[in-house]
Amino acid sequence: MSPPPVQHEVAGVRADLQPASSASSVTTDLANARVKQRIADNFSRAADSYDQAAILQKRVAARTMLGLPAQLRSEQPGSEGLQISHRILDLGTGTGLHSLTLAERYDNAVVIGMDLAMGMLQFARHHTSHPRIDWCSGDIESMPLQSGAVDLIYSSLAIQWCNFEQVLGEVSRVLKPGGAFVFSTLAEGSLKELDSAWCLAGEKDRVNRFDSFDTQKQRLNASDLVRQAFSLKPETLFYSNVITLLRSLKALGVNTVLADKGGLVTRRKLAALQQAYEKIRQPEGLPLTYQVIYGVLQKPY
Ligand SMILES: C[S@@+](CC[C@H](N)C(=O)[O-])C[C@H]1O[C@@H](n2cnc3c(N)ncnc32)[C@H](O)[C@@H]1O
Repeated sequence: MSPPPVQHEVAGVRADLQPASSASSVTTDLANARVKQRIADNFSRAADSYDQAAILQKRVAARTMLGLPAQLRSEQPGSEGLQISHRILDLGTGTGLHSLTLAERYDNAVVIGMDLAMGMLQFARHHTSHPRIDWCSGDIESMPLQSGAVDLIYSSLAIQWCNFEQVLGEVSRVLKPGGAFVFSTLAEGSLKELDSAWCLAGEKDRVNRFDSFDTQKQRLNASDLVRQAFSLKPETLFYSNVITLLRSLKALGVNTVLADKGGLVTRRKLAALQQAYEKIRQPEGLPLTYQVIYGVLQKPY
């Protein structure tokens, strides 16, 4: 029997909070919606292959979880122990693997696994059955949740697809006072080898750009969330050849290029990319580096 479809509604926290567009921003909204649709489509297509390809993502998720609180805080200082039910939000849950870890870790909480990609959510519902997990279709930049509804927000390698300021604004709105946001994201320098190889092959804008660590730090300093931890750790993966590398990105669904100016990858372009990438081959293989930011923020009381 197939599981019921993913609902937009999450027990107790549903609210219609989608911001209305002004007439002047319709074009931008449309372009934005198209980009989001491409991101969602590519991740949906990758749902079946994601977990097997997610070597780095699993490593980063484990490290992100080191920032989680030992226990969930009560709403007011001094009222510890009174609250028996909490809500945790996993932003960009993907296949739901880490929502399950959160539900098992905090036995007094309901976990909401939210994602833009319906294919990911369908996969999560099929493969991850837990009485305290709700799956929710939603956009991190405009969450379908009431203000002050959530005790803890976790997110690993998802918010780099979003506008960081908007994410911080939404996180601050949705968190309860005293609640924490524990996350990982990417910084400038991520995928730099692939970018350089494409440039050497005469192709620009084939790889997404990420804001620098300092720019992201400034953005969060300007938000009303309090920084408890914010650090950068590079991770490098090695591939036997360019085809394996590109296939791996596709299997993860991270092959959406936001600038989308490159056109089709022809055999000739691929050959030029291979030739360029071979120049930086190391004994372990062709390197691909991710600059990973780990953060813990708190919403003040
Ligand atoms: C690289 S996967 C990470 C999945 C999971 N957190 C993990 O650690 O394996 C990124 C996920 O973020 C989701 N995502 C991207 N942009 C999003 C948005 N604006 N709102 C909600 N989810 C989004 C994608 O659909 C995808 O499932």
